[in-house]
Amino acid sequence: MSYEGPRFGIWALVSGATGSLFHPDDPPDATWERNRRLVLEAEALGYDSTLVAQHLFHVRDERLDQLETWTACAGLAAITSRIEIIAAIKPYLFHPVVLAKMATQIEEISQGRFAINLVNAWYKPEFERAGIPFTDHDDRYAYGREWIDIVRPLMEGRKVNTKGQHFEVSDYQLHPTGRYRPRPLIYAGGESSQARDLAAGVADTWFINGQPPEDVAALIADISRRPRVDAPLRFGLAAFVIARRTDEEAQDELQRAFELAEQDRPYRRQSLDNTDNKAVMFKTFARMPHVGTNGGTAAGLVGSYERVAERIRRFHSLGIDLFMLQFQPFEAEMRRFAHEVMPRVRERSAAA
Ligand SMILES: Cc1cc2nc3c(=O)[nH]c(=O)nc-3n(C[C@H](O)[C@H](O)[C@H](O)COP(=O)(O)O)c2cc1C
Repeated sequence: MSYEGPRFGIWALVSGATGSLFHPDDPPDATWERNRRLVLEAEALGYDSTLVAQHLFHVRDERLDQLETWTACAGLAAITSRIEIIAAIKPYLFHPVVLAKMATQIEEISQGRFAINLVNAWYKPEFERAGIPFTDHDDRYAYGREWIDIVRPLMEGRKVNTKGQHFEVSDYQLHPTGRYRPRPLIYAGGESSQARDLAAGVADTWFINGQPPEDVAALIADISRRPRVDAPLRFGLAAFVIARRTDEEAQDELQRAFELAEQDRPYRRQSLDNTDNKAVMFKTFARMPHVGTNGGTAAGLVGSYERVAERIRRFHSLGIDLFMLQFQPFEAEMRRFAHEVMPRVRERSAAA
């Protein structure tokens, strides 16, 4: 019988930590060596996917190291054999023809395990200090649509001729493509109406920020009403996990994580001060106290192993196919999840 339960992924540590910068057992470490070991171990533990976010410098403290997404993904593609590798991309940072070529090359290196995560920018200094215009929120989405409408057919091996507001591309075709499957997969993140239209229009999977099941169900209902021509959209959820033997132990750990996060407050403040105030995702975060990025613990994967497994099943029944997870300390908690929660989810999925 084939397994049709949820898939699990880990956020690569591009910024060195997904929780507090001050965790005594998990100081920020964004080195290639750490990420190499992390993803190899995740693959061995049975994780299905890794998401490599994209920022050119650290959004909380720019003195800290930041891993470069696309070169790291090429490296990960070469050293792994089963795990899916998802590279985030902000369209303004690469011309679409160049990006499509890079994506098809990593697809080739990975033998059909590569995907892009189309993300709109929100952190202004990354662009402004490089002299790249940080245009209005909705204009960035319009740019992203024109951009992906070039990238996608190129990744499929089709010839592209187009003249739009931002790009003019003539008789462009890439080789090789389609050796392992039709093209690399397309994920998209972002919560605004524009993000939802974009995901419904061109993505294979929409990433939702960590939030309670009722909110997730409402988001899925909304996007499912938007225009789409392809196979049904799939859904991924970001979440920060705190799983322990008992609910009490998990709640104690959550409390400790909130206390640690107090030390991060000035760093989060500077990040927020430099954020596009039209970015809808941050309005969602502001409603829900949480630890971790992208909603983190607000998804509620906090509790006993049984409770966390049950919650995952609930999200899965709403349509979440892929859980993109964060932990702290990352490696130890990633192992615990693989040993304690994954088997419980799988047993229940098989029994259902
Ligand atoms: C799972 C997930 C991953 C994301 N990864 C990145 C990233 O790597 N870099 C980035 O700048 N934004 C990232 N984002 C942010 C969104 O793409 C988007 O910029 C943000 O939600 C603001 O847009 P909105 O107004 O549509 O919400 C991510 C969002 C999600 C849900």
